[in-house]
Formats: sequence, C-alpha cells, structure tokens
Amino acid sequence: MGKLFISEHPLIKHKMALLRNKETGTKEFKELIGEVALLLTYEATRELPLVDVKVETPIEQADCQMVSKKIAIVPILRAGVGMADGMQTLLPTAKVGHIGLYRDPDTLIPVEYYCKLPADIAESEVLLVDPMLATGGTAEAAIGFLKERGAKKITMLCILAAPDGVKAVQAAHEDIDIYTAAYDPCLNDHGYIVPGLGDAGDRIFGTK
Ligand code: URA
Repeated sequence: MGKLFISEHPLIKHKMALLRNKETGTKEFKELIGEVALLLTYEATRELPLVDVKVETPIEQADCQMVSKKIAIVPILRAGVGMADGMQTLLPTAKVGHIGLYRDPDTLIPVEYYCKLPADIAESEVLLVDPMLATGGTAEAAIGFLKERGAKKITMLCILAAPDGVKAVQAAHEDIDIYTAAYDPCLNDHGYIVPGLGDAGDRIFGTK
C-alpha cells in the first residue's frame, strides 16, 4: 500500500486557511496554490535517489551528493497547471507533461483527450499533480494512462484530499504515494470536498 502523507507544516496550514477563504481573490489564490505546491514538493522529494559527486570549491575538493533521477511534473488539466509553476521553482530542470481527461457523460468512464509527456517518462520520477483529490476517478485514470506509457515511479501531489479519493487511488494502484497539504472528511452531493475550498480550477483561472 502506498503512503498517505498529510502535511503538518505551519506554513502550509497558514496558506491553506487563506486558500479556503472565499474572500481570497484569483491573483492571491493562484499565488498560494503555487506556494503550497512548492512546499509540498519539498516533502514529496525527500526520498529521491542521490549519487556521490566530487566538487571543486574555491578552497578544495568536497564530497557532495546530487539527485540522480530525472523528474517529470505532470499536471492534470486544467487545475493541475496552477501547481506546476510553483513546483518548477524548486525543480527547474524537471520536464513538464500534461494530461487531460473528461468523464464520458453516458458511461462515466474517464476518457483521455490530451496527453503530451516527456519522451523519457519511463526513466523519470513522475510527480502527478491535481489540486483536488475528491472522488479519485480522474487521478486513478491518469495514473493508469501514465503507466500504459511506461511510467514506473509515480507520486501524487494534491492540495486537498478526501477519503473517497485516497481510497479509490490506493485500491486501483497500490504502489502510489499520495502527498496532500490537507485532508478533509467528506464530499457533498456534487462531489465537492467539504469544507474544501470550492472549485480549484475556477478559483485559479478566475472563470467564475
Ligand atoms: N474539484 C474541485 O475543484 N473542488 C472540489 O471540491 C472537488 C473537485
């Protein structure tokens, strides 16, 4: 079973309070999403593999370590894009892929409408990002599509997760670790996380 990491960091808790506030406007909301995503990336990359390197300092040679794995950030369209910018501040050499899914209104099966991934996705540590892990249907499908394209090590990062979403992802993919900035108790009848923060995509892009 993959692990569920729920942040206890005071800075993340403070920024979550601002994100949840309905009075927080689009500009600040988008900035906060990027900041929380950056802080969460710091937590989610703790176990990245390292290689030993020797570095010439201005004084003498030092034994150092550097991250040895390629990293791919893959936001799920569209709200995930709001997280990717902040993550790239911390991981400037990471490649960015995009995956777009919609739910077929008749079958309710997630259908991929867009997928552009780095060519070396199979050798990369993939950070899959979507701010809201609500029912888990989209995340579950996105992980499946990534695996079909060869991704072997996938970690999911979200701003807010609910039990249904976590259970759905863990049931379908037992190898996935989930990092979330906060964890809320339930969903409402419309599939929104309660108390949540509303529609993340609309609040990031100002579409409502
Ligand atoms: N998507 C959102 O944007 N918000 C929710 O609460 C659930 C899914």
